[in-house]
Amino acid sequence: MELIKATGVSYVYDGGQPALKDIDLSISSGEMVAVLGPNGAGKSTLFQLFNGLLEATSGLVTVKGLPVRKENFREIRTIIGMVFQDPDDQLFNSTVRQEVSYGLKNMRVQGQAMEAAVAWALDVVGLRGYGEKSPHRLSGGEKKRVALASILAMRPEVLVLDEPTASLDPMGASRLITLFKSINRDLGMTLIFATHDVDIVPLLAERVYLLNGGKIVSSGGVAEVFADKQAIRQISLRLPRVAHLAELLARDGVIAADDLPLTIGQARRLLQKLSPFPCRPQGQNGAA
Ligand SMILES: Nc1ncnc2c1ncn2[C@@H]1O[C@H](COP(=O)(O)OP(=O)(O)OP(=O)(O)O)[C@@H](O)[C@H]1O
Ligand SMILES: [Mg+2]
Repeated sequence: MELIKATGVSYVYDGGQPALKDIDLSISSGEMVAVLGPNGAGKSTLFQLFNGLLEATSGLVTVKGLPVRKENFREIRTIIGMVFQDPDDQLFNSTVRQEVSYGLKNMRVQGQAMEAAVAWALDVVGLRGYGEKSPHRLSGGEKKRVALASILAMRPEVLVLDEPTASLDPMGASRLITLFKSINRDLGMTLIFATHDVDIVPLLAERVYLLNGGKIVSSGGVAEVFADKQAIRQISLRLPRVAHLAELLARDGVIAADDLPLTIGQARRLLQKLSPFPCRPQGQNGAA
């Protein structure tokens, strides 16, 4: 089922240059999609059109067939859960518990069900025990997780994440990637995220829209989009580090140039095939 569709969408900020130009995009239920682009590409602008925070200057955005217009905002905002790039734009309650329960209250969730949803959401983002703290006194990464918990608690059909791993430490980012995958797999939540972090895209996305200067310059499966190295490099991005290493090894004739691995897992499988030595099965990483 088509969840979010943009057709010929442009957006111009007051008195500014067009931030989005003639965008066509379609996201189906259950997908994990990345919108990848450098600073200023238009990623945050695009996301704000999905739930009506901004209104397209021209073209049409629909969510489950509903045009993103005032009369549909209520329904659309129960379908889409948006986590902003800057958590300070999202957090306004005086405790973390109030913050995470705020949306649930609006949905008239009460009592035990409310307690359970808040506890679950804080738990999955790794903030158990933070309920009575002030969100405004937390670190940037902790704030980001509170913002995420407040959206997750409502179990939206689509999770729209603007730079979900920016400002998180490596372990925090890695935990979130695992969490998002399991949310997609186990709860069937559709996932759309904006990033300029090329290394997380192959870990989390199945499909990519490459955005630059307000235009979609490429789209398709992750391997397909990264295969066009020139397009990636032309817009101030790079290949994932593993792919860059593989590219150099291919240049040295160590491996074949086709099918560059994009993740450590893919590189490992490729090297295992080449290696004359038997390798440990995956998951056994003990030092030897
Ligand atoms: N409120 C605003 N008023 C005027 N111009 C804006 C506003 N917000 C963004 N822009 C401009 O619109 C363009 C797209 O910005 P946007 O924030 O959507 O990019 P982005 O891809 O999210 O970038 P980043 O990776 O830095 O978050 C930029 O040129 C930016 O300067
Ligand atoms: Mg942005």
